Amino acid sequence: MIRESQVVLARHTDAAQISRMSKELIEHDLGWSWKQGRIIQSIRCPDRNVAVVKNAQTVVAFGIMEYGLEVAHLLLFAVQPDRRRQKIGSQLLEWLEETAIVAGVGCVSLETRLNNRGGRRFYRAHGFEEVGVVRGYYSGQESAVRMVHQLHNQSTG
Ligand SMILES: CC(C)(COP(=O)(O)OP(=O)(O)OC[C@H]1O[C@@H](n2cnc3c(N)ncnc32)[C@H](O)[C@@H]1OP(=O)(O)O)[C@@H](O)C(=O)NCCC(=O)NCCS
Repeated sequence: MIRESQVVLARHTDAAQISRMSKELIEHDLGWSWKQGRIIQSIRCPDRNVAVVKNAQTVVAFGIMEYGLEVAHLLLFAVQPDRRRQKIGSQLLEWLEETAIVAGVGCVSLETRLNNRGGRRFYRAHGFEEVGVVRGYYSGQESAVRMVHQLHNQSTG
């Protein structure tokens, strides 16, 4: 059943779960770079939003967005495997993109693993275009595809 999920800003107490999700769902086989301390730094960082969807105390989905003047960069994004294909990722991404639009940022960019077919399809379904491949992006071990979503047409101005 598809339910409307509430997107909220993460608290420090969510950091350990987010970090573990990054290790298991995003960084698997690459080495673990988003440890708890780095997530807490992102929660504190004024240029970043760490957004979550929770079920009680459990983090179901999270996304980390960094806002520049012209481009917002989606740093990390994942939904728990047993909650996928329920539009939770879509709601979270739309929430993060809305914050970029409100901040006057016209574009969202990201890199994802070249072999992440599901992720790439998800982003394409949300208007992202694949603009290039970055060889060895992940510690020289694996390539990334760079994706960009122009938000201009969605702004109200
Ligand atoms: C990619 C991911 C975030 C999608 O989250 P989700 O909540 O399942 O996505 P949604 O339910 O909102 O999907 C919206 C649409 O995106 C597309 N999509 C999502 N996952 C897909 C998949 N695995 N394969 C193909 N298309 C997919 C579909 O068009 C889907 O609509 P549909 O279910 O009506 O066909 C989730 O699979 C995930 O966490 N993957 C592992 C981590 C990851 O890849 N993160 C992104 C890169 S860092």
